[in-house]
Amino acid sequence: MYTSWLALGISLLGAALATPTERKPPVHCNIISLNGAQYLYLHSSTKNPTSLPGIQSNYHLSDALAAIGSHANPGNNPMVLINSQPFQGDNFGFEACTSTYMKFPSSDTVGGHNRWYGHIRAYGDPYNPNAPALCLTRRWIEPGHEFLTAEACSYADNSSQETQYFAIVEVATGYEIADYSLEMIGAPKGQHSKKYYFAPGTSAAPAITVHPDQDTGHKLGIEYIHYN
Ligand SMILES: *[C@@H]1O[C@H](CO)[C@@H](O)[C@H](O)[C@H]1NC(C)=O
Repeated sequence: MYTSWLALGISLLGAALATPTERKPPVHCNIISLNGAQYLYLHSSTKNPTSLPGIQSNYHLSDALAAIGSHANPGNNPMVLINSQPFQGDNFGFEACTSTYMKFPSSDTVGGHNRWYGHIRAYGDPYNPNAPALCLTRRWIEPGHEFLTAEACSYADNSSQETQYFAIVEVATGYEIADYSLEMIGAPKGQHSKKYYFAPGTSAAPAITVHPDQDTGHKLGIEYIHYN
């Protein structure tokens, strides 16, 4: 008798504790102005030229896995970020977010530069305004194989944010100049996060890869590029 009342009490307590997390309001995000910057770039500290990454509707995670000889399951098989030719219509933006789970403010400053926290929106080729919002996502496949994919943006205020959260810093803006640096954030504020580095693909395996705690010398950014 006592044990069953105790069990009931524990299950009621469990339900009461579980309820608030289910009712949590979603993450709120707003697109910020990047002063005309719209191309994602992958800069190398040692090598030229810079790679201009993009997503293409004909290159998916299954293609990236086949290119490296992996038989891992591509799941819902999202588009994957690849080295692309510039000016093929790939556009990116940034939405600053407020997430109780991630604990970062939506904006602050660092060394006198504006900084925002949130999602990198991938608009793709061509951008369809009716398509679901896509966000750059870190997709872990198996040890040594992590990619950046374009997946439905998550607005659930939970650990799903860890794979889509970035910090963007305004490095320079002016006449025909708009330069922003990006840093991937893998954990809530105050918790240890790996440092994420990236590497461009090759012609045989064009997918851009993610390298936790392994300095590849490549950094992501978003910039304005004058083309003529
Ligand atoms: C985050 O919350 C959403 C909505 O409640 C849920 O579908 C999803 O599984 C959760 N993800 C994680 C990683 O907890």
